[in-house]
Amino acid sequence: MNEAPEKTNRLFVETYGCQMNEYDSGIVRRLFGDRGYSVVVDEKEADVILLNTCAVREKAHERVYGRLQSLNHLKRKNPGLVIGVLGCMAQNLGEDLHGMGLPVDLVLGPDNYRDLPELVEGIRTGNGGATLARLSSSETYEEIEPEVVSGCLAFVTIMRGCDNFCSFCVVPFTRGRERSRNPDSIVQEIQNLIQNRNVAEVTLLGQNVNSYKMDDGLDFAGLVRRILNETDIKRIRFTSPHPHDFPLHLLELMASEPRFCNHIHLPLQAGSSEVLNRMNRDYSKETFLNLVKQIRTLMPDVGLTTDIIVGFPGETEEQFQETLELVRACEFDMAYMFKYSEREHTLARKKYADDVSEDDKLDRLGRLISLQTTLGAEKNKREVGRSHKVLVEGTSKRSSSDWMGRTDSGKVVVFSAPEGASLTDLDAYRGTLVDVEIESCTQATLKGKADWSSASSRTGGKVRDNASEPAAV
Ligand code: 5AD
Ligand code: SF4
Repeated sequence: MNEAPEKTNRLFVETYGCQMNEYDSGIVRRLFGDRGYSVVVDEKEADVILLNTCAVREKAHERVYGRLQSLNHLKRKNPGLVIGVLGCMAQNLGEDLHGMGLPVDLVLGPDNYRDLPELVEGIRTGNGGATLARLSSSETYEEIEPEVVSGCLAFVTIMRGCDNFCSFCVVPFTRGRERSRNPDSIVQEIQNLIQNRNVAEVTLLGQNVNSYKMDDGLDFAGLVRRILNETDIKRIRFTSPHPHDFPLHLLELMASEPRFCNHIHLPLQAGSSEVLNRMNRDYSKETFLNLVKQIRTLMPDVGLTTDIIVGFPGETEEQFQETLELVRACEFDMAYMFKYSEREHTLARKKYADDVSEDDKLDRLGRLISLQTTLGAEKNKREVGRSHKVLVEGTSKRSSSDWMGRTDSGKVVVFSAPEGASLTDLDAYRGTLVDVEIESCTQATLKGKADWSSASSRTGGKVRDNASEPAAV
C-alpha cells in the first residue's frame, strides 16, 4: 500500500537586481521561516520557488523569462511545486505573467509580501494561482526582521518607493510612493543585528535616502545620528542619495564621524545638462560638478561611485562626449554603466523615441567603460603605500589563506591572514577593524599587508596575535 508522501516545506528564493530586492528576499525568508519552512540552496529540492525580480532594464526581464523556462521541467516532474514571481517585474506585468506559457502560479508585487505565505498555502491546497500587485502608501514591513545577513554585513531598508520620476525609470511605478520607516524600528533592527548576528556594518537602503523624513522633522542625517548614538555599530554606509538634494550637514556628519563611512554612491546618469533635463534629473552638469568638489573639499579621501546611462533618447555624440568629460573631471572610483533601455509607463517612453541605434549605444558604452576602467585603475595605483582601516569580512575569493574586507571608502582589499590562522580564527576576526598597508593593486582590488597588532575584537579588546589557537571574543 502506498502511503501519501509527507508534506515538506522547503523554500528556494532567487534574487535579481538591487540591494533593496536582497532585503525584500530576506523579509520573504523570514515570513516563511516563521511558518516552519526551511531554506534550500538547490531549487530541485524545493517545494516553493520564488524569483524576486527586477524591471529596471529589459535584460532583467529576459533573464527571468529564461529562468522560468528552465524551471518548466521541475514543474512537470512535480506538479505540486509552487513557482512565484515577486518584485518589480511582477508589479510591472501583473496578470500578464500568467498567460505566457511559463510555469508561474503566483505573481506578487513588492508591497504584498505579508500575504505571500497564505497565498502559497492556498495554492498548495488546490486553490489555484494568484496575482497580487497592489501598491501601498504605507507598507514598510516595519516589525519584520529579514534574514539578510552576510557575514558581518547587513542591509537595512529605511524607506521604500520613489517620488522622483526620472523619465527613464520604472521604479516609481513598481515600488510606488516614497515612505519612510519609523526610526525606532530601524534602531531596534540594528541593535538586534549587532547582538544576535554579530553584524558590524550596516548599509542603509532607500531609493533616495536624502528624502527620508519623519513627521517630527527627523531627516536622514538625524536618523544616522540616532543610529550612531544608540547603537555600537562599527560602520554605517548608505545607498543611494539623489544629487539634487545633498545637504551640507550630512556631508559634515560624514566628515566628522569615523563610523559613518567615507563612501558616496552618487548617480550621475549623464554629463550633458540637456540630457539631464530630459531625464528629469533636476540638476545640471555644473551643479553636479560643484557638489563633487564640495564633497572632496570636506572629505579628501572619499570613495565616489556612480551610475551612468548612455544612449538616452536624443543623446548626440557631442552630448555623450560631455559625459566622458564629466567622468574625467569627477574621477569616480567605480561606475555602473548601462545602455538606455526603454521601460513601460515611463515618461521617456511616452515622450521620446528610443532613437539612438543599438550600435551607437554599444559603441558609447564600450568607450565609457574603457575610460572609467583606466581612471579607476589610476586611482587604485595612488593607494599603494597608504594605510587603511579595513573591516575584516571573510576569505578572499581565490584563497582561504588570504582574507578580504573594505576600506572606509568602500574599496575591496585582499590581505594575508595572520600566520597559521584557520577558518575558525576568521570568526574571531570577522567584523574587526585592522590597519592594512596597501602594497599593490589590480583594476578592481587593492592588496596589502595587515598589521594584526592593530586589530580590535568585537568586544573592544585586542585580538591576540597568535590566531592559530581558539580565540576568545
Ligand atoms: N535604462 C538603463 N539604465 C537604467 N537605470 C534605471 N533605469 C534605466 C533604464 N531605463 C539605471 C540608472 C539607475 C540604475 C539603478 O539603473 O543608472 O541609477
Ligand atoms: Fe528611479 Fe530616479 Fe527614483 Fe532612482 S531617483 S529610483 S533613478 S526614479
